[in-house]
Amino acid sequence: MTSKNFKKNILCIGAGYVGGPTMTIIASKCPDYKVTVVDISEERINAWNSDELPIFEPGLLERVQKSRGKNLFFSTEINRCIDEADIIFVAVNTPTKMFGEGAGKAVDLQFIEQTARRIKENAKSNKIVVEKSTIPVRAAETMANILHSGNNSVQFEILSNPEFMAEGTGVADMEAPDRILIGSMDTPSGLQARDILMDIYLHWVPKERLITTNLWSSELSKLVSNAFLAQRISSINTIASICEVTGADVTEVSRAVGMDSRIGSKFLNAGPGFGGSCFRKDILNLVYLCEYYQLNEIAAFWEQVVSLNDYQMERFVKRILQAMFNTLVGKKLAIFGFAFKPDTGDTRDAPAIYICKRLLEEKACLNITDPHALNNARKDLQGIERGVEFIEDPYQAVEGAHGIALITEWDSYKKLDYQKIFDKMEKPAFIFDGRNHLDHKALYEIGFNVYPIGKPALKHL
Ligand code: NAD
Ligand code: UGA
Repeated sequence: MTSKNFKKNILCIGAGYVGGPTMTIIASKCPDYKVTVVDISEERINAWNSDELPIFEPGLLERVQKSRGKNLFFSTEINRCIDEADIIFVAVNTPTKMFGEGAGKAVDLQFIEQTARRIKENAKSNKIVVEKSTIPVRAAETMANILHSGNNSVQFEILSNPEFMAEGTGVADMEAPDRILIGSMDTPSGLQARDILMDIYLHWVPKERLITTNLWSSELSKLVSNAFLAQRISSINTIASICEVTGADVTEVSRAVGMDSRIGSKFLNAGPGFGGSCFRKDILNLVYLCEYYQLNEIAAFWEQVVSLNDYQMERFVKRILQAMFNTLVGKKLAIFGFAFKPDTGDTRDAPAIYICKRLLEEKACLNITDPHALNNARKDLQGIERGVEFIEDPYQAVEGAHGIALITEWDSYKKLDYQKIFDKMEKPAFIFDGRNHLDHKALYEIGFNVYPIGKPALKHL
């Protein structure tokens, strides 16, 4: 059925943040399967074949090095690999559509459709096709229609197997997942395909963590998971605003509320707004779906989660502006952290992009520092670099600065010598801790005017 020494050939189309890491984990846990990852981007594939991986994810390089060349391969030979595969994961990007019908909300399905057509053109034997990308509900139907169109005698069984890993903790999330969700058709061939996919995960995931559902429930559950997580963040961010005007402390409120086991303590950290490539896009996808089915009140409910996130980013900027005497013209601000969260170099939809653009509109000068995201930050701010410096060393970034805005809670920022930093800054020195990451009392005692999120400011003025 497949290459001599392997039980099955697995192929993943799309070597991005999901395709690369998920296939690396499958290869490392299933030495009896051959795993190949392909992409249209030669640059990405070359990077996966080097020790400068295209993405930064703790623990990933070691795992790639362990399996690469043995049962893990990265290639641009998409057509040949499709033909050789038994199971094909589709992990291409599904961004928000930016043109035409549904612009700004619907998913741009062009990469999914191109992939389906390529599979159809090159598959000469039956295949299981697994949706790993996050897609709208009933996308499997569209894929099936494309795959089975024309005079094609090849049979394709489509499964939904959404990915729940979070960046920065991707390796741990995939090695010990809360759950693996597999949606299939309730037909003999659908259930057989589902069992074949389950066999892969059973190499390391306990059986009780594998959930099986129908295809549409699986597709919808992925959107709902992200919508619920993002909704919690927007909820706590609204409470942060109330805390700032009433003297309550959002960290204390989160703790008190989260200790109710019905509510739970995770994802209740107030911040400058959520970022990342998926929350906004997946909620807007859900909103579009609701509008499509004329569930307008429900669409409005979910859209508000995104509107509140925009409001939160703007609120962070306004707080800086107001605290610094309502003008930032010519003032230097050190930006601590540009990645959308720590332990990743990913800056897609990072709050830092919006916040920095707004600060530049106010004619501030920015010294941006980040341990892993400066290359992406440069690309994000391309064309508006006037007044922006990208500086690796945070001590250099604060030289002559009037304020610091901490946007990403890198652990290394906790360990800096803030007396040394204070001494290098203009006075009065401000610090805006967008993540409540630092020791505010200690900073205040050094002489900083400290503006946390969701807590009263500590100021000498
Ligand atoms: P990405 O942009 O990092 O990677 C997608 C890759 O697909 C790119 O390298 C691109 O070149 C490639 N590609 C596009 N069209 C192709 C084609 N026709 N043939 C071959 N390769 C093609 O995206 P990502 O972050 O890995 O996300 C992929 C999917 O997974 C999205 O649907 C996303 O919503 C979902 N997801 C992402 C995460 C995450 O943490 N990033 C987590 C869970 C789910
Ligand atoms: C998120 C989900 O957590 C994953 O389960 C999902 O697979 C993934 O999206 C996806 O579909 O792409 P990710 O975006 O990588 O993962 O990272 P998160 O840890 O969820 O953080 C997202 C954003 O929310 C970050 O900007 C983070 O700083 C912010 N956040 C998170 C808060 O502001 N407060 C919190 O309490 C938690």
